[in-house]
Amino acid sequence: MKVTVVGAGNVGATCANVLAVNEVANEVVLIDIKEGLAEGKAMDIMQTAQLMGFDTVVKGITNDYSQTAGSQVVVITSGIPRKPGMTREELIGVNAGIVKSVAENVLKYSPDAILIIVSNPMDPMAYLSLKTLGLPRERVIGMGGALDSSRFKYFLSQALECNANEVEGLVIGGHGDTTMIPLTRLASYKGIPVSKLLPAEKLEEVAQSTMVGGATLTKLLGTSAWMAPGAAASYMVESIVKDQKKMIVCGAYLDGEYGMKDITIGVPCIIGKNGIEKIVELELNEEEKAKLAASEAAVRKTNANLYEAGILKK
Ligand code: NAI
Ligand code: 2OP
Repeated sequence: MKVTVVGAGNVGATCANVLAVNEVANEVVLIDIKEGLAEGKAMDIMQTAQLMGFDTVVKGITNDYSQTAGSQVVVITSGIPRKPGMTREELIGVNAGIVKSVAENVLKYSPDAILIIVSNPMDPMAYLSLKTLGLPRERVIGMGGALDSSRFKYFLSQALECNANEVEGLVIGGHGDTTMIPLTRLASYKGIPVSKLLPAEKLEEVAQSTMVGGATLTKLLGTSAWMAPGAAASYMVESIVKDQKKMIVCGAYLDGEYGMKDITIGVPCIIGKNGIEKIVELELNEEEKAKLAASEAAVRKTNANLYEAGILKK
């Protein structure tokens, strides 16, 4: 079982580390354009193997995609991250070219791979990859909802003063500060709706903290977060390679689901050995539907830039 992670920066190296520590794959190839970076990060991870007790082999490579051949899953994290005050959408100009060329290189050597797109703005980057590569939609999956839902559960557990592992919650919509939708109505603690446990104002506060979760960390860290993003990507890889069929909110290309077509946006998906095996259609109320429509409009606006810039052709 071989998994490739493109980009050996903060998110990519963390993802490779979590994949190794959890022994998700036998072999993890970490590849970057920057000479020696992936080799160094891989060696550093491998020097923890006997301390952590894992058998996964992590290999670092500079730019030689032949070494990624035969990967079952490829995680794409290459590109620039946001700086404090920047939105994810502002990264599109630089990252679109990087993601497109990387995805093409990857597929030359791993034609059957399932791609997980992390680079921002994630929903448009996943849409671009799908459109450029002509792959079935099951095989191009955006990572955003896994992270946002984990942040949501964290903030809920803080408010409830409980164990985050005992909280359920989903964040759907685009992976953006104003486009994501924490579904507070459906969140629960041990099966009890959180709306019965927390006042409405507290729940609204939790939703707001979740939405700006990435921006808050960017401000604190001076660059965007990497621990939870790397772990969230690994969580998705694990559901694929172990065919766990977990329900994970992912950037999925929609073809009529939720009344949308020709867009990649966050919705709950069953993730297994074939990638997106099912899109789960939640029964949303009118308020949630309106928020999803606004999120759709914002994501479509960013996608339109890809056409206007000639990166994608109609
Ligand atoms: P980083 O700057 O630490 O790492 C990016 C790496 O990509 C660098 O090592 C760079 O050399 C490499 N790279 C650039 N062009 C490349 C190419 N053509 N081929 C191979 N490697 C190349 O950035 P970080 O923090 O790891 O973030 C990576 C991306 O992930 C950013 O776009 C960021 O916005 C996004 N991100 C997305 C999240 C999500 O939930 N979808 C969460 C966190 C970050
Ligand atoms: C995050 O949510 C910036 O997408 C990145 O941390």
